[in-house]
Amino acid sequence: MDLLKFLKNNLFVQNLVGNIISFTPPYLELSIAKYLAIKKALFVTAHDATYGSYLEFGVFTGSSFTFAMKANKKIEKIFGKIDCEFIGFDSFKGFGEIEKGDENPSFKSEKFFVDEKKILKNIEKCGKGQKLRIIKGFYKDTIKNKTTTDLKIDKSRVIMIDCDLKESTHLALEFIKPSIQEGTIILFDDYNYFKGNKDKGEYAAFSNFRKKYPEILFRKIFDFAYSGEAFIACKIS
Ligand SMILES: C[S@@+](CC[C@H](N)C(=O)[O-])C[C@H]1O[C@@H](n2cnc3c(N)ncnc32)[C@H](O)[C@@H]1O
Repeated sequence: MDLLKFLKNNLFVQNLVGNIISFTPPYLELSIAKYLAIKKALFVTAHDATYGSYLEFGVFTGSSFTFAMKANKKIEKIFGKIDCEFIGFDSFKGFGEIEKGDENPSFKSEKFFVDEKKILKNIEKCGKGQKLRIIKGFYKDTIKNKTTTDLKIDKSRVIMIDCDLKESTHLALEFIKPSIQEGTIILFDDYNYFKGNKDKGEYAAFSNFRKKYPEILFRKIFDFAYSGEAFIACKIS
């Protein structure tokens, strides 16, 4: 009996599969997919000897940040010890003032207020034995008009941009510019939100950055989670 005929006569199969997939909470699915993207980026960079720091803009509870440190330990078992500092940037109090063009029903500052002491303690615990730094504060105070050189960050290996808004992403990209090398991977977690509007969100900030600095060529390497896209700096002239 062919599969299509079997499915037509046994609708419980489609019901069962639908039930299982819809039962999985979206945030769980999304987090797993984000973890896999980070692991993939760490693997690819280790494979090609793209050494440098892991930078994360938007730490929140530290879920993806602590995962990156854990995943790197496993990757070091394959490729050997890698000198990689993990550096996270967050206010732990949301976005601060949100510009008109950055307003979105799901990106509200209150949602991102966290018990900073508890989060930092957990990050320290998970990052035992790894080099790590947390740069606490709003980006307008911590990274605006600064670059990685000011914070003694040399080259970047993987950069996770998970700060949702166009303005925050713009500040992050200007900050990291000197650290980008051939092989640096940038993961944008919220690339396709804002109804696909080309003038909004992480998409707009990155497209302005690429226009402003055409000497850095990027190539898209994969999609991830619900709204994420990953790029590699493939040529710097
Ligand atoms: C979606 S959450 C990050 C989620 C995290 N990567 C994870 O996987 O658990 C976004 C974070 O970005 C931070 N953020 C966004 N814009 C910021 C800014 N301008 N200054 C400081 N923090 C900012 C917010 O405080 C929030 O914690």
